[in-house]
Amino acid sequence: MTDKKIIFSGIQPSGSLTLGNYIGALKNWVSLQEQYESYYCIVDMHAITVDKEPKDLRKNTLEVLANYIASGLDPEKNTLFIQSHVPAHAELSWVLNCYTYFGELSRMTQFKDKSQKNSSNINAGLFDYPVLMAADILLYQTDLVPVGEDQRQHLELSRDIAQRFNNRYSPTFKVPEPYISKVGAKIMSLQDPESKMSKSDDNENGYILLNDSPDKIMRKFKRAVTDSVGEINYTDNQLGIKNLITIYSKLTEESVDEILEKYSGKGYADLKEDTAEVVIEKLRPIREESERLVKDKTYLEKVYKDGAEKAQYSAMKTLRKVHKKIGFIPK
Ligand code: TYM
Repeated sequence: MTDKKIIFSGIQPSGSLTLGNYIGALKNWVSLQEQYESYYCIVDMHAITVDKEPKDLRKNTLEVLANYIASGLDPEKNTLFIQSHVPAHAELSWVLNCYTYFGELSRMTQFKDKSQKNSSNINAGLFDYPVLMAADILLYQTDLVPVGEDQRQHLELSRDIAQRFNNRYSPTFKVPEPYISKVGAKIMSLQDPESKMSKSDDNENGYILLNDSPDKIMRKFKRAVTDSVGEINYTDNQLGIKNLITIYSKLTEESVDEILEKYSGKGYADLKEDTAEVVIEKLRPIREESERLVKDKTYLEKVYKDGAEKAQYSAMKTLRKVHKKIGFIPK
């Protein structure tokens, strides 16, 4: 037992991770790992809400685990595990379903977006997705959930569900706080700086993947959509440029002002190429280490098995409490 506060977060293995996932989530996780007791999950049960080829899901799940470790998450300091290995997630999710309203889930913007994109497969899992996410978080008595901006609404719902349950019975769940960076919580598409960088984008020039080659990264940045102002500013009137500066700043730790000063009087091509270089150098060791790790199946298996065992132990403490409070007879 430690006195450290608890973190929970996760990423879907729905494809290779993007620079958005890295800056909005993973990078923060790495910097928080010393101060917190952390659970980082690969949420394969969330990933099947959209149709997936089994072999791709298997491959992506291990790749995401390799990405976690290669980005600097130490498996000795953090609990790294696969969601479907800890049945308590599905079990608590069912219980929480009965404390979540249809109207609340209907208002989730991600559900609305995803059902538009997958109109031939608007399944109940897609609708119920945020409840499984609440179960993920609440099982671990989580204090803090580091995520990107797009998860804010889901987190608010998790808080509402926790409070509702606590009020109906007695304090059972910790009510979690979001941890969303002021800068970089929403990395935008390189092709359409008004929408989020996403691996489900039809245009692959819109996103950078953690396993993109240096050439590909350079090419994508050179093609990045900007504007016709011709001056480098950090403003919502120049979203493409703003996005490049945000990426640059997050990866170098240089402040936005320092970057603006450095590029004052320079052209967009300079900023695009230099940002590409920064990204290439940051991602190179992560890509190389991930490639090495995915080949070491024995090691990955050890990490996810140990992780599941630790996670299951903590999760069961909460689940048993919940079952007791609602009136289920203990086994
Ligand atoms: P997912 O897999 O879509 O994304 C994983 C994390 O990456 C962040 N992110 C971004 N941040 C900045 N800019 C972007 N363009 C960008 N794209 C993605 C997301 O905000 C997220 O933090 N439902 C979650 C996974 C999940 C979860 C959880 C998260 C399941 N259970 C419990 C936290 C706690 C999701 O689909 O993330």
